[in-house]
This record gives sequence, C-alpha cells and structure tokens, in this order.
Amino acid sequence: MLKIDTHTHVLPSAWPDLAERFGDLRFPVLRQEEGRYRIYRDGKFFREIQPNTWDAQLRIEQYAQFGIGVQVLSTVPVMFCYWADGAQALLLHQALNDHLADLGRSHPQHYLGLATVPLQAPDLAIRELERSVKELGLAGVQIGSHCEPWNLDAPELSEFFATAESLDACILVHPWDMMGAASMPKYWMPWLVGMPAEQSRAACALIFGGVLERHPKLRVALAHGGGSFPYTLGRIEHGFNMRPDLVAVDNQRPPREYLSRLYFDCCVHDDRALQYLLDTVGSEQVMLGTDYPFPLGEQEPGSGIERVVSDAAAQKQLFSQTALNWLGSRAQAQLGF
Ligand code: CO
Repeated sequence: MLKIDTHTHVLPSAWPDLAERFGDLRFPVLRQEEGRYRIYRDGKFFREIQPNTWDAQLRIEQYAQFGIGVQVLSTVPVMFCYWADGAQALLLHQALNDHLADLGRSHPQHYLGLATVPLQAPDLAIRELERSVKELGLAGVQIGSHCEPWNLDAPELSEFFATAESLDACILVHPWDMMGAASMPKYWMPWLVGMPAEQSRAACALIFGGVLERHPKLRVALAHGGGSFPYTLGRIEHGFNMRPDLVAVDNQRPPREYLSRLYFDCCVHDDRALQYLLDTVGSEQVMLGTDYPFPLGEQEPGSGIERVVSDAAAQKQLFSQTALNWLGSRAQAQLGF
C-alpha cells in the first residue's frame, strides 16, 4: 500500500551563515562540533539535529521499516525568520528551496518538497513561491501559523494566497513563534500548550477572515491534527452563534462548513483523539503526517492509523488518497498517477 507522510522536516547539511553575513545573531546557524550538528539561534544553543534530518538515503531506509515510501518535505520552522528583513531572509529560503528541489529530483519516488518563503515580505514571498513551483517543481509551500503581527487573514497576505491558489500549490500551516512562549518558559510548554493553540489561531483566521471563502480552490492542511481547533470546534461554533457581532464580522458562513476545505494530519498521539478527528472532519480530510524526525513526532510512523482504522479502503484513504488530493496534480504526476 502506498503511504505518504505529509509532515516531515528536512534540512541541508549546511546553509548560508546569515548571522555572520548580516551581523545578526538571531539568524539560525548550523555548527559542526565534535562530529555533532548543532543549531544556534540568538548566539545560543537551540537544538542538535541527527543525521536523519539531512541524510536522504538514511531517511528512506528508516521509512522502509514502516512501509512508507513517500515523504513530503518541509523545512524546520526555526528557519522561517519572519522577524528578519525580507530580502535578507530570502537568501536562506532560496537555499532551502534549492535543496528541497534537489531531493525531489534525485529521489522523485520518495520525496516531494514544500517550499518556504519570506512571508513578512509578501512580494518576495510571491516571487519565491512562483520560482519554487514553476522552476523547481515543488508541490506547495509551508507557512507559519502567523507572521509577526499578521494573522493569516491579514490583507497584506491576500495576494500570497491568491498566488498559491492560481499556482495550484498546496499549503501546510505549521505552528511556530508560539503565543505565550515568553511567559511559560518551563516544561516545554511552548511546544505542548502553545503549538496546538497556534493551529487553532491559524484555522480561525482563515475561516473568520474569509480567506477560504475568497479562495475556493485553496488547499490548506493543518499540522498536528489541527492542534486544538477540532477539539474546541464546538466552542468556536457556539461563540459564532452567540456573539456574531464579535465573530461573524467578516464572514457570515458558519465555521463547521469549512471542515471539508481543510486537511489535517494524524499526528495527535492519542487513538481516541484520532478517532474524534475522523468523526469530526471525515476521513477524506485526514492524512498520514508524523513530524519525523523529531521527538514530538509519531515514533512509529503510521502506527496510529493502523491501530484506529482497520478497514483496508479506509486505511488507503488516510495513507495516500487524502494526501494526493491535498498535494494536487503536479505531485500526483511525479509519483506516477
Ligand atoms: Co512539524
């Protein structure tokens, strides 16, 4: 059975040192120290990465153990650098997109790339998305759950979404720059509490701000099972009904009507939560996505789906069909459909 993991992260084994070039330590830098690869940000140690973050062949071999053949690749959100000058950050995004394209070209049956763009500079983001799709052949783009002061319904981002729609480029929304992070530094809470909330923030902005309404062909996926959005949908809908003066000010359509427009990965780490997600949004909107190769990801890729869904046709939907629908025709062609 074809299995496509829609949420995996990859990095090149080297990237431009913008911290040195622009004298700004906030840019992420990769340093090799004693045979280890460590990312530094703000001049401080951020995260050590393992060979399966950059070694294309090792990743394929690790995935073969789980019967998974295709990984949809996206960069690690620390690389977004939406806080930076757009023209400076563009240099990093271009290098990452060139690397993603190389992987897709060298392993077309295993790797599909999602571009990354300097969203804080929409004109540059649009040009880089066009280059990534038209020249590099990437399937779509990964964006953050917000961009500095802008939520995803910001008018400044309108043309970007219009471009993604016209290019038939799918979008993966990934949490980053987590709300409340400064006030909850302990216990990994930005990842455990902030990330799910970021995904709900993104979903609500796309729905209430009318982004999905204005772009009916846009295909948006929410990583981490949509975070807290599906689980709090009842509350969100209730708020829409009870206080339309606060909620329905830019879009009159009820939020539940957009569930069939959104895609969700299965990375929820709880079989009952996955079953709830399936019951709420339908199996046609849910797909394999694991956050490989990081510790918060599903450590046995695909095992949640296998435990929760036994029917072969339903498994096929979650392992490949939903992903193919979300990815679109270019990715389908690359995989031979
Ligand atoms: Co992720």
